[in-house]
Amino acid sequence: MNLNQRIEHWLSDNKKAFRATGRPFVTLSYAQSLDGSIALRCDEPLALSGEQSLRLTHQLRSIHDGILVGIGTVLSDDPQLTVRHWVGQNPQPIVLDSQLRMPPKARLCCLPDKRCWVLTTVDDHGAVIEGLDITALQGDADGRVCLPHALQLLWNRGIKSLMVEGGASVISAFLSARLVDAVVLTITPQFVGGYKAVKDLEQTSRAALPKLNPFFSERLGDDLILWGNISYGDTAA
Ligand SMILES: NC(=O)c1ccc[n+]([C@@H]2O[C@H](COP(=O)([O-])OP(=O)(O)OC[C@H]3O[C@@H](n4cnc5c(N)ncnc54)[C@H](OP(=O)(O)O)[C@@H]3O)[C@@H](O)[C@H]2O)c1
Repeated sequence: MNLNQRIEHWLSDNKKAFRATGRPFVTLSYAQSLDGSIALRCDEPLALSGEQSLRLTHQLRSIHDGILVGIGTVLSDDPQLTVRHWVGQNPQPIVLDSQLRMPPKARLCCLPDKRCWVLTTVDDHGAVIEGLDITALQGDADGRVCLPHALQLLWNRGIKSLMVEGGASVISAFLSARLVDAVVLTITPQFVGGYKAVKDLEQTSRAALPKLNPFFSERLGDDLILWGNISYGDTAA
């Protein structure tokens, strides 16, 4: 089996073994430089993945029911979140957008086969944006979309596996909330000194920090792929 097949099998086994009910299995997957940068600046994207790791990313998209990003990524990258470099189904695109900043001209508003789901906290939005399905949810303490509620809604709508692609605020929020089950990282062999993938995880002790355990790594083209399960330490330790 080649690397793509092994990662797909590994994820499939993980999804089958996943016991938590009421929320999807969550895979965190993004590309970073050696110094942990995912972009040049928060509003300036940078294509980091090589050809083969880009194909792996699209393969991963195709084996998840949903794909989720934050509105920061939409405003910066205008992504499509479709499967183009692999043969497979497009996942359901989902955007966390508390203040409903989604531009009506975003590419996610005109996908050929899916209406993008936008999760917001704006209750009386009354907004009808063509191509979007907007749902208001409870806000968290910071007024952003509450992640446990969002995941419960997605589960109820049939999303049993979710790929979280970024950006940094969303990656950090999922890790802080201990809602990531598996990670597949593309690491490119360059220093960027840019916008970092992970912010303050608000954990009070070193033991509480999320770790990959077990983890695996292999070179793919010019990049390194690192993948594994997340384990969360005891917050009281
Ligand atoms: N290299 C990669 O693989 C990769 C992948 C994706 C993105 N990126 C890069 O990441 C950068 C964007 O990252 P970013 O940190 O600025 O934006 P982001 O994480 O994509 O989106 C953050 C925004 O999402 C909204 N949000 C709603 N609910 C949230 C919650 N519970 N937790 C966190 N955020 C929530 C917030 O805005 P509201 O409060 O207005 O809702 C927040 O500011 C871009 O430069 C992009 O190129 C890189």
